[in-house]
Amino acid sequence: MAKKIFSGVQPSGNLHLGNYLGAIKNFVNLQNEENNECVYCVVDLHAITVKQDPNELKDSIRETTAAFLASGLDYKKSIIFNQSSVAAHSEVSWILSCTARMGWLNRMTQFKEKAGKDKEKASVGLYIYPILMAADILLYDSTHVPVGEDQKQHLELCRDIAQKFNIEFNCQNFLVAPEPLIQKSFSRIMSLKDGTKKMSKSDPSDLSRINLNDSKDTIINKIKKAKTDDKTLPSDKKNLNERPEVENLLGIYSSLSDQNLESTVNEFSGKNFSEFKKKLSELVVEKISPISVEINKLYKDKEFIDKILNDGAEKANKIASKKVSELKKIVGF
Ligand code: TYM
Repeated sequence: MAKKIFSGVQPSGNLHLGNYLGAIKNFVNLQNEENNECVYCVVDLHAITVKQDPNELKDSIRETTAAFLASGLDYKKSIIFNQSSVAAHSEVSWILSCTARMGWLNRMTQFKEKAGKDKEKASVGLYIYPILMAADILLYDSTHVPVGEDQKQHLELCRDIAQKFNIEFNCQNFLVAPEPLIQKSFSRIMSLKDGTKKMSKSDPSDLSRINLNDSKDTIINKIKKAKTDDKTLPSDKKNLNERPEVENLLGIYSSLSDQNLESTVNEFSGKNFSEFKKKLSELVVEKISPISVEINKLYKDKEFIDKILNDGAEKANKIASKKVSELKKIVGF
């Protein structure tokens, strides 16, 4: 059955291998399935929940768009736009913030992680960020939302908001509760320096992640320096959870070569890390370098990127403005 797909990525700094394997690779597969209607958004309103340099934000938006295209998204098949250019996102976010409950937001673990110890100093935007995310999804009647594992709780909140709104305003099925599409394996890529921490843009160490625009030499160097241990590679996956860094590297290899973890474990059983890391570097370079080259090429053509975003915004606006006017009527405006 045809699916209505929506997903978003923040334009804050470089996209990394976690974004690619956890989300964007899946965006491309869904786009290429027949009959799906896909909307992919560069979520710049989400980005300003933490401090951004206004002189750099516009270029980050272009760079994320370039990364979408370089990874295989096609502006002729999917709607690609940036969130702030469609006003309905902010408007609906406000209306839904009157449906969402404080208790629901208080349970969001990502806010707790991102706000850190000093919650009082976090922006209000960071706290209500999942409501904006719900607005993004619900505006397009999205049926399926491809994301990495870290977004699962936000999608549950989105479903709760949709259901409560429909009951409160007696408008059954007006807001469509979406299904999360989270890959069964490799939906959480971990830091190269600490296998218990998610690979993330906000990690202060660049050695913790592989960025989609890293050069070949940088990729090779980062994999060489990735944390492992002094044993050889395992012969089965049974006790891998006790070796999180090793499990993560084997997972990255499996995901990039489209094979399951078992096959990768068998391939490298009993081998030493220098041999495995050499093969892993070759594979990452083979898959990521063409994307990196393409990002750098596209990124230079600002006019082209801006045109894609403008055209995308026009198409998104058509869908979103219709939904928002129906929603306002339901609320009584
Ligand atoms: P963001 O920008 O943090 O991440 C974009 C996508 O990448 C996935 N991801 C990962 N997957 C696996 N391993 C990792 N280490 C890893 N790091 C990031 C994320 O799960 C995400 O799918 N709030 C969202 C953006 C958003 C959105 C939406 C998503 C805004 N509106 C509506 C879906 C639908 C975010 O900050 O993602």
